[in-house]
Amino acid sequence: MGKAKEKKNSAPKKKRSFRGLKIFLSVVLVLVVLAGATLGGSYLVNRNFTVSFYQITSDKVSSNIRIVELADLHNSEFGENNSKLIAKIKSLNPDLIVYAGDMMNENDGNYSVLFDLSDKLSEIAPIYACYGNNELDRQLFYDKTFKNQLEAHNVTLLSNEARNVEVGSSVIQLIAISDNVKQFDVSTNNAKKFLNNLEPTDNCRICLTHYPELFNEKLLNRNIDIAFCGHAHGGQIRLPYFGGIYSTGEGFMPNFTEGVYDVSGGTKVVVSRGLGNSSEATGIEGIEIPRINNQPELVVVDVCWY
Ligand SMILES: [Fe+2]
Repeated sequence: MGKAKEKKNSAPKKKRSFRGLKIFLSVVLVLVVLAGATLGGSYLVNRNFTVSFYQITSDKVSSNIRIVELADLHNSEFGENNSKLIAKIKSLNPDLIVYAGDMMNENDGNYSVLFDLSDKLSEIAPIYACYGNNELDRQLFYDKTFKNQLEAHNVTLLSNEARNVEVGSSVIQLIAISDNVKQFDVSTNNAKKFLNNLEPTDNCRICLTHYPELFNEKLLNRNIDIAFCGHAHGGQIRLPYFGGIYSTGEGFMPNFTEGVYDVSGGTKVVVSRGLGNSSEATGIEGIEIPRINNQPELVVVDVCWY
């Protein structure tokens, strides 16, 4: 009697644990499939780029000015020799093209993607650029001739300096900030010194800087009308209703990841999600945080006079 009772009690226990294992494995399988589909889908989506259009009104220009912004290309290519990117920019008919930094990778020494692209884009419109951390490190630690080489490919690279540029019937003042938050007050010819000595202007002041996080504090109330930035890579992984979750400059829950932000002093801060990716965020060469729900982006800003 006792033995029979013991057998009856042990059988259901085995069944329950097996059912639990099956549920656990099913959940794991579903998660693996979902992760695979998300990564695979993102890989396919990220092979192409989207175009974002913004309009910003300014009473300091006398005609509309179309500016195309490229950021964080990191030597990526869309079509053979970037033919898709070049064709799209040509069809947009910009007055000015700006590079907001990190167009190449400091470590691989491959300039050909950037130089070939610049040769072609300079036939469409003048190109102005600021340093990203990759260009600046390349220049400082590997190749002091980088700036001259880039300029030989028709890109004007500005660094903590200002330049008045005629566009149609308007003159705009382009300024470029090279320093990140840590370098801002201390680098040689630093940005703070440059800005403190910058004369007031009636021209529309447009700032190129790789680092949008400068608009948390350092670049507020500097009479900048519009700024073009990159660096955040859209926050790498974008969640619906929440946005990007990580940027190299701000860490988790960054303030600046994509779009146009209104900040103190009346500046419109345009942040591109960028066109490429890098291993900078992980700090491990060749290992990148994937871009998920974060398609590479070309930004178009129409500065409108009315
Ligand atoms: Fe970047």
